[in-house]
Amino acid sequence: MQFDLAPLSLTDHATDLMVMVLHKDEGAPFATEWFDRVVASGDFAGKAGDALTINAPAGMAAARCLLVGLGETDKVSAKTLDKAAKAIAEAAVKKGIQTATLAPQGALDKAFSRQLGLHLALAQYQYTETFGTKELPPASTLARVELSGELDAAQHGYTIGQGANFTRELGNLPGNTCTPTYLAGQVHTLKHDKLSVEVLDEAAMETLGMGSLLSVGRGSVEPSQLAVMRFNNGGDEAPIALVGKGITFDTGGISIKPGAAMDEMKYDMCGAATVLGAMKAVIELDLPLNIVAVIACAENMPAGNATKPGDIVTSMSGQTIEVLNTDAEGRLVLCDALTYVKQDNPACIVDMATLTGACIIALGHHNTGLLSNNDALADELLASAADAMDGAWRLPISDDYDKQLDSNFADMANIGGRDAGTITAACFLSRFVGDTPWAHLDIAGTAWVSGKNKGASGRPVPMLVNWLQSRAQ
Ligand code: BES
Ligand code: MN
Ligand code: ZN
Repeated sequence: MQFDLAPLSLTDHATDLMVMVLHKDEGAPFATEWFDRVVASGDFAGKAGDALTINAPAGMAAARCLLVGLGETDKVSAKTLDKAAKAIAEAAVKKGIQTATLAPQGALDKAFSRQLGLHLALAQYQYTETFGTKELPPASTLARVELSGELDAAQHGYTIGQGANFTRELGNLPGNTCTPTYLAGQVHTLKHDKLSVEVLDEAAMETLGMGSLLSVGRGSVEPSQLAVMRFNNGGDEAPIALVGKGITFDTGGISIKPGAAMDEMKYDMCGAATVLGAMKAVIELDLPLNIVAVIACAENMPAGNATKPGDIVTSMSGQTIEVLNTDAEGRLVLCDALTYVKQDNPACIVDMATLTGACIIALGHHNTGLLSNNDALADELLASAADAMDGAWRLPISDDYDKQLDSNFADMANIGGRDAGTITAACFLSRFVGDTPWAHLDIAGTAWVSGKNKGASGRPVPMLVNWLQSRAQ
């Protein structure tokens, strides 16, 4: 995508889409008579969220005009600007548009430009991979967006959106394509001379003592994989560690799930896909950071040799785990991945996982769940989430919840009962991070959308990249 400065004179500027972002109490910057007629017709009132594409007025070189409302001038919030950016992006990727131009108007700041770039990339994404003969809508032809100022911010947002699209594509691919081997192998598609990657197979994990991770894929014909990315672009600072849950399909194992909507458990690798999408953006943005990123990939299947309820496994940390429910498998792969990244002495660790259905009950689909052993790290992440318009909400962890994991036969059980399921899952993970500042993102409610528009959302790539960028300053 090419981002260019919009010309000052707009009436004689040839473009496929001339965008006017307008407050409710404000007129158009040109073609005012025509604009007044549009408003009088009742089709556009300038309310927040209003968007109208119409033919450009006579005498104007643009093919079409898009009017986008921001509501009252004194009530414009970051959310309204984000909605406006999304409306523009969705109109600009429509058929036949190659160039879109934003008329300079109002305070369309840096954050707006970044959100515009992000939404343009997101709007251009189309899943096509596994269709056969069905005719699909044509791909977007948009190649150039003109705006006044903040071109870098727009490009930056676009790059984050491309990272999120990588996450979405991996999420949307079916489980019979996106296997643990396929998912882990994606690290080879990331290119940067400061990046080194490595994929550990089951034998290598066995040698490291990753009995917990390996217990999850035992019943699958697909071998488990642990992929590691080391980005050394930040001098000799301690690295930031990222860890993602990569269950390419979660049947529940022997504690098998009910059939309804089980197909959506192909999205159970979205934590890993988020790590990959964020790394893609970080590399493209060349952020001066050291990062060690690990994705723990396995398929959770029932079988004659699958792990059974009551089985006890030994994690890489030496701690033993009684697997009371084979459907609580995410924490079993994550704990060994956490122990593994601890070897790099990271400054902090952030893991992300579609970990608990309970998180959807607690927070719905709006906010990612955030749990942490460190207030400063939690606050940084919450601030980045708010700034990136990619919401997160903190839930507590404490010894009281942790006790729910007590087992009569091992150092801990892998479930803590029905109450506070998201919190006890995080308590389980916290037993493997020690004193290292750590945050866990439960993305069960935010990583994908169900229903008619079923598809991976690319969240929380914007939040994560925003946070990494703040760390690079
Ligand atoms: N991947 C699921 C969590 C999940 C379920 C995410 C539905 C999004 C939608 C996870 O592996 C799981 O099965 N968790 C169990 C934990 C329970 C057995 C303690 C759950 O949430 O029911
Ligand atoms: Mn499960
Ligand atoms: Zn799962």
